[in-house]
Amino acid sequence: MNIILFGPPGAGKGTQAKKLVDFYKIPQIATGDILRANVREGTELGLAAKSYMDKGELVPDEVLIGIIKNRLTEADCENGFILDGYPRTIPQADALGEILVEIEKPIDVVLNFEVPDKDLVERISGRLMCKCGASYHKTFNPPEKDGTCDACGAEIYQRADDTAEAVQNRLDVYKKQTQPLIDYYDETGILRTLDGTTDINVVFEEIKAILSEFA
Ligand code: AP5
Ligand code: MG
Ligand code: ZN
Repeated sequence: MNIILFGPPGAGKGTQAKKLVDFYKIPQIATGDILRANVREGTELGLAAKSYMDKGELVPDEVLIGIIKNRLTEADCENGFILDGYPRTIPQADALGEILVEIEKPIDVVLNFEVPDKDLVERISGRLMCKCGASYHKTFNPPEKDGTCDACGAEIYQRADDTAEAVQNRLDVYKKQTQPLIDYYDETGILRTLDGTTDINVVFEEIKAILSEFA
């Protein structure tokens, strides 16, 4: 199964991706996590990306297209993959289409998470992250042990771009640059929209029901 998780910042893409990885045994490709790992390791890519990320701006398309092209050709994508946070612009979607034709792995479904802005701000401002990519929420999804990741035991922290200003900018950037992709994928008939406001496990059940159509 080749899946795109699509939606605004804080919609729950990363949270659901982790559940899908366990369920379908296919990898999550989260461009935000890849970029943050590069920032942490101080790579050239990370240094170039950090200033955009901290402001809530998109990192330039050519950087992302390069990352995705390399990642999708790795062996673990053989049986499918979950794209989380990519594509975010029309040029990124066009480039993805070309890569997927080349490697003969078309997208089966784009899952479009719908969550109103006020919920997004509340979710992002209470989010705690782990370097392994797991994401928690102080109220809605706390870890079992305070301050520690359930999945890997590392310390959890607040993301550098989860500040009030950056969040507002990320929502604006989403509306201007990313939302047009809803029509882009709807026209091809592979877009499915789901209510992202329900409980995390209810959202996951809805996703599994949608994906069973494509299995
Ligand atoms: P990225 O890391 O992709 O961030 P984002 O899109 O802004 O999305 P988030 O990770 O904030 O939200 P999410 O949908 O994963 O929500 P989560 O599951 O964590 O990108 C970061 C930056 O990197 C970008 O700003 C950009 O600079 C750069 N970048 C990345 N990809 C790029 C690209 N393709 N092109 C250019 N630049 C790129 O959930 C959020 C919170 O809500 C958590 O606390 C969670 O516990 C809680 N929650 C989740 N589901 C529920 C629920 N159902 N009910 C209640 N709470 C919930
Ligand atoms: Mg995420
Ligand atoms: Zn972890």
